[in-house]
Amino acid sequence: MKRKPYFISEETGKLLERLILITSSRSILEIGTGDGYSTIFLAKAAKKTGGKIITIEPEKESAQRALKNLKQARLNKLVEIKQGNSLEILKTMDKKFDFVFIDGMKRDYLNYLKTIRKNLNKNCVIAAHNVISHKEKVQDYLNFVKKNFCSCTLPFDRGIEITIINR
Ligand SMILES: C[S@@+](CC[C@H](N)C(=O)[O-])C[C@H]1O[C@@H](n2cnc3c(N)ncnc32)[C@H](O)[C@@H]1O
Repeated sequence: MKRKPYFISEETGKLLERLILITSSRSILEIGTGDGYSTIFLAKAAKKTGGKIITIEPEKESAQRALKNLKQARLNKLVEIKQGNSLEILKTMDKKFDFVFIDGMKRDYLNYLKTIRKNLNKNCVIAAHNVISHKEKVQDYLNFVKKNFCSCTLPFDRGIEITIINR
């Protein structure tokens, strides 16, 4: 599929893929599917670890395009797309996750994390996109993860925050 400017970069996609592989993550959550460009990188890694992905997207048309793109990549069987309000969906989630990619509504990053805190396995890795380009909107998230967990900002592709839930 063709990459749009607001999707993650290919470099970030490869980093996410590698992180999933080295952590042997099997249970993966994505918040903010878009058209599924980032989901394809997650799913390629999940195929190798024997994992599955749940991805959440509020826009119906985006969710439909993501499904089409995943089908074209022959990765749709590894991915469950949940279309709807992510905070509502996350509140009712009972699965535990090894790896989370956050790329939804920037102002809600901290809300997402607090809502899924109960669902994160020890040593869960969280990657969050746009932490430099949208620094003001995600500042509360950055303060929280840097204070409570092992967390660092990677200065490429609009900023990626990598956090390890080490307690
Ligand atoms: C930057 S795009 C995602 C791009 C995708 N992750 C990629 O890199 O290929 C952000 C997406 O977040 C979605 N979004 C907006 N509010 C959201 C929310 N509350 N929860 C989840 N996704 C949300 C938007 O509809 C949009 O599709």
